[in-house]
Amino acid sequence: MGSSIRFTGTGPGARTQDGCSVELYRRLPADGEAETVAAVVPAGGTVLELGSGPGRVTHALIALGYAVTAVDNSAEMLAHIRGAETMLADIEDLDLGRTFDAVLLASTLINFPEARTRAALLAACRRHVAPGGAVLIERRNPATFFALQPGPAGEEAGIRHIIDSVRHEGRLSHITLRSEAADAAWTQSYTCELIDDAQLAEALADAGLRLDRWLDPPRRWSLAVLA
Ligand SMILES: C[S@@+](CC[C@H](N)C(=O)[O-])C[C@H]1O[C@@H](n2cnc3c(N)ncnc32)[C@H](O)[C@@H]1O
Repeated sequence: MGSSIRFTGTGPGARTQDGCSVELYRRLPADGEAETVAAVVPAGGTVLELGSGPGRVTHALIALGYAVTAVDNSAEMLAHIRGAETMLADIEDLDLGRTFDAVLLASTLINFPEARTRAALLAACRRHVAPGGAVLIERRNPATFFALQPGPAGEEAGIRHIIDSVRHEGRLSHITLRSEAADAAWTQSYTCELIDDAQLAEALADAGLRLDRWLDPPRRWSLAVLA
């Protein structure tokens, strides 16, 4: 099926189909995602990471002892991954014929602005999670979704993020984010949809999954299991 175009971007280096900068994601550090996995998946387990990019989270998972299969539809992104099995594929079409202890759908991919795409992403999670396994999904925090304002949005590894513009339209937010390093700057414009608890529960049920529990107080991270 392929993902819908929802990003546009500018700045140096290769871009993915969805407009992410390979170089920007190469430079960004992991942000505790692997530890979130480690809190629920026994060490040494198998992890299918969907939309892995260049391995920001993949490499942190490997360091914690997981056997990772990293999936992305960008060969330029996957070229930077070391120590994991890599799969060049659209998540929506992925069917590896095997299952994993954990399936990771991070980077708020679940906030895609189309229900059909979200359903296809969750169906891929469902196809690949082992009985007794975990699907970990990261969404945008619904409590702060519409509170986003233009201005500084944090700094990591010497890269400053600045929200240039935000426009809310119904359940959608259209955002332009600028990321500035000492030697380069990138912009990404993207649209994401509010996914509240009820909407997530319904989408999970449609995919044959159910919410087991939330993994953090803001309810960004959910743990889903086979229904
Ligand atoms: C925002 S980047 C995040 C990368 C990585 N998860 C991280 O947090 O550093 C999103 C990644 O997902 C990939 N991606 C987006 N939609 C995809 C799809 N439908 N199938 C496969 N890969 C996809 C992009 O190519 C990109 O590498």
